[in-house]
Parts: sequence; structure tokens; C-alpha cells
Amino acid sequence: MPLSEAKIGIMTHALHYGTACFEGIRGNWNSEEKQIYLFRVRDHFQRLKKSCHIMKISLPYSVDELCQFTVELVEKNGYREDIYVRPLAYKSSQVVGVRLHNLEDDFLMFVIPFGPYLDINKGCRCCVSTWRRIDDNMIPPRAKVTGLYVNSALAKTEAWENGFDEAILLNQYGHVSEGSGENIFLVVEGRLVTPPSSDNILVGITRNTIIELAKNELGIDTMERSIGRNELYIADECFLTGTAAHVTPVIEIDHRRIGEGAVGEITKKLQQLYFDVVRGKNPRYIDWCTPAYSSKTVA
Ligand SMILES: Cc1ncc(COP(=O)(O)O)c(C=O)c1O
Repeated sequence: MPLSEAKIGIMTHALHYGTACFEGIRGNWNSEEKQIYLFRVRDHFQRLKKSCHIMKISLPYSVDELCQFTVELVEKNGYREDIYVRPLAYKSSQVVGVRLHNLEDDFLMFVIPFGPYLDINKGCRCCVSTWRRIDDNMIPPRAKVTGLYVNSALAKTEAWENGFDEAILLNQYGHVSEGSGENIFLVVEGRLVTPPSSDNILVGITRNTIIELAKNELGIDTMERSIGRNELYIADECFLTGTAAHVTPVIEIDHRRIGEGAVGEITKKLQQLYFDVVRGKNPRYIDWCTPAYSSKTVA
């Protein structure tokens, strides 16, 4: 149905208590092939199913069915530019009362045109947030739960109001966790370093993509280990990864230049590899790309 007609009631449980799980899936426009490639769509729905399991939200569709709905939705909309698909599984009962049990669940999905989220060319300026990343025993960070994003929103707006582009959150032990909507990587002496899942990150699909590309294409290993705040300042390079953010270089943190204060060499190589892969231009990784348009639509 048209977006303007897709309404939910004002008493919907998820609106009041943040009891919903979502994903963000990018469709990347390939202008030569006149095709939109949905990137790692299966992985996104596998993660959504895990999030729903944690949140006791019933999602009565298989990963295959959800992928099929996505292709149909994108094809029906017919965009010829980069897009973003937002599936949301939510507690739909119109009742007052904080809980997860004895509630109905529902599912929705929409697609919108979506350009860059942060400056992928110039890079971004970050600060370490005064807000700490939520802990596993508060809201499971591995699950993409809407209510959890209050944590990200507080950090993002604080950063923006203080003149930065993005926030980097530490966890309760002071270890670097991630950006408000991105995972973080450092380049240290030619190797990649990124926080482990035990430091309260959302285990990102782009993060995994970069780990694979660095290893397979550049012969660069990634160390998943806790990172201290001070290591941010002295890293050779730093970048953020996420479905929205793609691979965004970080050129400054807390008013300290990172490396040369420009996009680093390894970051640049990974960016190039990544953009070819997500637009379906690298045959080695074509299995990660689902074409949304049938040959008839393309013609
Ligand atoms: C808090 C947070 N961390 C990390 C990511 C990156 O995850 P992915 O690469 O799967 O999009 C996202 C975006 O989904 C996010 O919201």
C-alpha cells in the first residue's frame, strides 16, 4: 500500500515501550546494469529472526520468504537510485502495560531512496560520548531493538550539538564499543583492530564484510580485541562501518588528528573494494548481492 495509507494505532505497544526489532538493508543502484543489488539480505533477516527470538516477537516467515517480500517490495517501487529497506517486527497490541508476554506481534516493511549517511569522501570528525553503550544485561546489544536506540540517539545528538559528526561510545568498562549506528575499526601497524562482540557492539554485517575483504583481497588480518580510549588517538587510521554509513573514514577524534588527518591508504583500498562488491561489480562476492529487478524490469 502507499506509505501515506500505511498507519498504525496510537496505542501500539511498540511505540510506547520500544518493543520492536528492525533491520536496515541497502539496495545499491548499478547504473550500467540498471539493477538494484540488495546487499546480504539473507544475513539481515537471519539477524532479525535472532533479535525477535530475544524479544519474544513472533515472526512467522522464513528467511527465504522475507527475502522474497523484499525483492517484490523493491521491484514494485521501481527506484533507480540507492535505496534503504526497513523491516520492523513489533509488538502490535493496543494495550497499556510494560511486558513482552501476552501481546500480539506484527510485521511491516518499507523502502525509501537513501544516499550517503556520513561523509564517505572527506571523512568524519568524532568525539567520545559522555553516554556509555548499554550493557548486555540492560538491553541485549546484539539485538537490533528499537528501544535500545535511545542510547544511540542521545550520543548522536550530543556529538552533533558539540560540532562533531558522530559519537564513539565506550562500554561500562571504558572499552571502545562503537559509533551511534556503526562499528569501528582502527588500523594499527598495518593490521585491523576492532572491538569484540563482548564489548557490547551490534555485530555488524558490514563489519564482517570488511573483515572478509581485508583478509581475502588485501591479506590483512583483523584482531578482535578490546580497545582503550587512548588507542583511538594514536591509531594510524580509523573508520566506521555500517549499512547506512558504508565505510566512513574518521579523520579526527576529540580534536586530535588521526594519522595524517585525511583518508588513510588502507581505508581507501577497503572503501574501493567494498563499493564494487555492494554494487554487484565483483564476481567473487556476487552471492552477497540479490538483484531486485527481473530481466523484464531492467529492459
Ligand atoms: C548500533 C549499530 N552498530 C553497528 C551497526 C552496523 O551494522 P550493519 O553493518 O549490520 O549495518 C548498526 C547499523 O545497523 C547499528 O545501528
